[in-house]
Parts: sequence; C-alpha cells; structure tokens
Amino acid sequence: MSWEGGDRERGWTRREWVRFGMAVGTIGTIGSLGALSGRQLIPPPIEFTGEIRETLYYTRFPTAQWWNDKAGQPMKLRDFELWRGATGVWRGLFQNDQYVPGTGFPVLVIRVARDLDNLSAPADVELPEGFDLWYDEEPAPENDDEGVRLLVVFDRCVHLCCYPGWHVIAVSDFSYVSATPTKEVHDEDPIYCICHGSQYEPMHLVKDVNPKNGAVYVGTKYVHGPATRGLPVVPVKVEGGNIVGGMPDPRWYAYCG
Ligand code: FES
Repeated sequence: MSWEGGDRERGWTRREWVRFGMAVGTIGTIGSLGALSGRQLIPPPIEFTGEIRETLYYTRFPTAQWWNDKAGQPMKLRDFELWRGATGVWRGLFQNDQYVPGTGFPVLVIRVARDLDNLSAPADVELPEGFDLWYDEEPAPENDDEGVRLLVVFDRCVHLCCYPGWHVIAVSDFSYVSATPTKEVHDEDPIYCICHGSQYEPMHLVKDVNPKNGAVYVGTKYVHGPATRGLPVVPVKVEGGNIVGGMPDPRWYAYCG
C-alpha cells in the first residue's frame, strides 16, 4: 500500500500527517527539548513553583482516540487492554493541581502480549529502585487471563524528533531489518513515526548509545529506518493502579533541540 493510499484510507494525506506530527508536541505534551536539558530536569531556581509528577497523565490526541476523554487524568493500568496504547506526559509540572502545558516528557504507553518466547530485554541495566523496564503481571492461576506486559517509551523519534504513534495510522511498509514479533507473530503494527517511516519493535528492548552524549540507554529496537537506534524506554512501576515513570539517567532522553 502506498503512502497516499494508506493515508487516504483514514482521511489524511501524508503531508497533513507530517505537519501534524510536528505540531502534536505543542498539544499538551512538551514544547521543546530545551525543557529536557534545562528547565524540566533542573527546575528554574527562582520562579519555579508547583510539583513535577512522576505519575503519567493522559494527553489529548488531535484525532478521535479512545483516551481523549481521559486527558488530564492519571494513566491507569486497567485502562489498557491487550495492544492498547495511548499518549501521555511524564514529569509534567503541576501548579494548583493543574498541568502546565509544555512541560514534561511526551510518552507512549503500550500494552503488548505477554509472549515470553518473543519478548526480550537486557538484564544488566541500572534502574531506579522499584522500577523495571516493563510492568509485568503474571496470569492469575485461577483463571486463564494472559497476564500483563506494559511499557512506556519516550515519544520523540531518534531520527528527527517527530512524535511516533501507536496504531493511529496504518503502517504501509513491512520490510524490516530484524525480527519484528509484534507484526510477524501477532499481526499488530509496531510503533510508527509517520514523518519518514521509522518503526520500532515494542517487544524487543535493546541497549543503544545516544550519539549526543555517549550515554548507553535501553530502547525499543528500531526495525525500519531511517532511525538507526532504539526509542528510549521509561522505567515503569504501578502504584495504586496508576502508571508511574522513574528517571534512570536524563541523558537517555537528551537528543532533540
Ligand atoms: S522523525 Fe521519525 S522517521 Fe524521521
């Protein structure tokens, strides 16, 4: 299926999507990565008030999506059925209990299959206490549910910093540079950056190096270019049903702007 064909199928042209991809970051997520390297990670010394919340909050998506009505609310584990994903913000600044637009890290939360034969991740990574690369829940023995495997990724493409999406537009090119179980085993599209076509495999977490600062980080493996490295994950835990992110090393996320 061609770009135009795939995009038209859902009422969008590629040009519209690229424009949208550049604009979406201003819509309730993060204004610029200047925020990552300066204001957001190290709060301004004088005028900073409010609190930075590690809990993830839903952000509204510009097209109709299942989570739009939840924008501004904490992201809940139980909202995520198998293969569901949503956009959110992590480490957003809140003042008077209100989210300050343009602060925090844009993220994607995705529940993948708890398919232990096809999931992989490095084991020797230093993470904040209580956090893991995945949230994992084993199947309850008294029924045949499938258990839960959920991850959070930083939603800025490593190619040119657009905003990759999860199942908001159909993938049209399935040529992959390495195993892609999300597609090849489960017939679900991987994480997709519409701007130039990069795709990332959410069931394979790998180590990569951030070329901007030399930091070794863990990301979802890139399986289709032009990206040449993984999309960084955000270590995760669940507290009181809410999804919470934990900072491993700010240098994992410092490559835009
Ligand atoms: S910015 Fe994502 S593919 Fe180019």
